[in-house]
Amino acid sequence: MLTDLTRVITSNRPRFAYNVTSVEGFGALLDWGETHQKAMVLQCSERYLKDLGEDFFRRLVVPRLDESPVPFVLHLDHAGSLEAVLKGLQIGFSSVMFDGSTKPLNENIALSQQAAKLARMAEVSFEAEVGHVGGAEDGDEEEAALFTRVEDAKAFAEAVPLDFLAVSVGNAHGRYRRPPKIQLDRIADLAAAVSVPLVLHGGTGIPLSDLVEATRRGMAKINLGTELKLAWVAGVQSALAAGETELDRIRAGARQSVTRVIQSMEELLAP
Ligand code: 13P
Repeated sequence: MLTDLTRVITSNRPRFAYNVTSVEGFGALLDWGETHQKAMVLQCSERYLKDLGEDFFRRLVVPRLDESPVPFVLHLDHAGSLEAVLKGLQIGFSSVMFDGSTKPLNENIALSQQAAKLARMAEVSFEAEVGHVGGAEDGDEEEAALFTRVEDAKAFAEAVPLDFLAVSVGNAHGRYRRPPKIQLDRIADLAAAVSVPLVLHGGTGIPLSDLVEATRRGMAKINLGTELKLAWVAGVQSALAAGETELDRIRAGARQSVTRVIQSMEELLAP
């Protein structure tokens, strides 16, 4: 069944949220959840919503997750406008993120308030971002980070009725050009200042020990996207290197490779 993010992730129950960027990745996530009877958080950005097609989500992903006996969250990642939030709600996403983090704080607050209202009307959970996570959500272009200030997070969380808050603490989307330095003390300070669970974007490439420590200090949702894309590519490459020429076997190689990543990540945060 499709469910709300707040029912799957809480401050003392941290989980990964996996970006759906391929049909094989979706299959691997669905299988994992159903085989292990474990609620999973799947998410999709505007770019991959366009790439895979709105109908892929509306007609296939949403009904398939909804009919499952296992709870799944389908979260819209980084909606950049109120129109995108509305579209996600119409498609049937069970949770949404509005990202106004490149705008000045007051503007981000005002737009996030409106996006939160749309999410509330649809009775789905709501995530927003304060400070700005660097990298590029879905690409390789470099974007400068703006670390989240504790006072900004506090003001934001007081003004916007939100369920999850994404923060910038040394994390970045995409491939890190140099080893990331996650500011664990800032995470603890932010968690003490706001009552909602925190979200760490850019999970790919962060040392696993830092990921675990980040969850101890207050990170509840960890986004993982690039790692699954890299696994997909590696799976195709090794199938080709092994001499496979049949498309179904090459795709199976990609799916198995994605499944291995899901397995190791789920083990990392297993209670
Ligand atoms: P990565 O692609 O760096 O893992 O980040 C995913 C993410 O944060 C999506 O919002």
